[in-house]
Amino acid sequence: MSPTSSFAAVYGREPEVGWRSPGRVNLIGEHTDYNDGFVLPLALRSGTRVDAARRHDRVLRMASVQSGTDPVAVDLDALAPGSVEGWTAYVAGTAWALLEAGVDVPGADLVVDGTVPRGAGLSSSASLECAVAGALLALAGTELPLRDVALLAQHAENDFVGMPCGAMDQFASTHGRAGHLLLLDTRSLEVRHIPFDPGGVGLALLVVDTRAPHRLVDGEYAARRASCEEAARRLGVRALRDVTDLDGALATLDDDTLRRRVRHVVTENRRVLDVVDLLEAGDVPALGPLLTASHVSLRDDYEVSCRELDLVVDTALAAGALGARMTGGGFGGSAIALVEGDAADRVRGRITSAFRAAGLTEPAYVDAEPGDGYGPVR
Ligand code: GLA
Repeated sequence: MSPTSSFAAVYGREPEVGWRSPGRVNLIGEHTDYNDGFVLPLALRSGTRVDAARRHDRVLRMASVQSGTDPVAVDLDALAPGSVEGWTAYVAGTAWALLEAGVDVPGADLVVDGTVPRGAGLSSSASLECAVAGALLALAGTELPLRDVALLAQHAENDFVGMPCGAMDQFASTHGRAGHLLLLDTRSLEVRHIPFDPGGVGLALLVVDTRAPHRLVDGEYAARRASCEEAARRLGVRALRDVTDLDGALATLDDDTLRRRVRHVVTENRRVLDVVDLLEAGDVPALGPLLTASHVSLRDDYEVSCRELDLVVDTALAAGALGARMTGGGFGGSAIALVEGDAADRVRGRITSAFRAAGLTEPAYVDAEPGDGYGPVR
């Protein structure tokens, strides 16, 4: 069923506006965004579409093509963190964040249709928040700068849903550009679009959804973030981004776990900037070892990998990948591998066989073509 006919089937009328915003995959720069560091994601072609029409009361009704349920209704003026659960918390939380920012959000009927696999670490939630923000802003007849949309979506996730994420996913979803990576400085919020076309140099970027359920992700994520803040406090810097003398910092800290967390963040920030230099020099194959080094650091120092992610990375490298790493928050979700274009099928086949041999659910392969960010659809 087309999105607009889904809307008509649920609400018996036509939508007034449609908005979409993509998921993302992060090339490199993991767990750096809440340390004021650098990230280098790309927006996917898959995303979330939200169709919407105004109501004449203060009710927000939310239905989803994927969940196939009756619409869930909430009172816009009674929204408070913790008052809504499940996928509708991301929708209601975005309405709440817009209202808090002074946007005149009208009562509305919404239908959400998402193609980003959930739980794959590809930011289906940021894509939902940003698409909802776009649809509600369109209904309100208000435009906001992309940066504000991204920050409002992050505010919804941090303070309404309760996930203390950084700003990477919402920036990738709003600012993505076809054919480009997005270099985001999460301190200044300055954005640069970097051309990225591995196919043009005979390479391919594989995105492998391990389909391993995220385990303890929220608690572990919050714990990592708290460790970084504690380390920055002990080191007397505003954020780990400001550690310029890594050896000195490691010598100062007397806690081995904190030392390893700091080493990951500081070296990962450097890797992002090194990758950007290589891309600007046109040397895409040289990215490989940096991707793999990022994985090793996330696995051993940051301790956010898991068996399935390691299996993708190890198998891809053994099958000749130039580099591979987990991507996103970790503890499940997806991994990426940079491979020669003509080896892509072989590497995928080896990964699938390795999962079968290990008795794991077969992984899924996701298209990694960089697509456009947030915008209207009709
Ligand atoms: C999740 C968060 C992001 C970022 C990544 C790790 O995707 O939502 O803000 O911290 O994990 O890089």
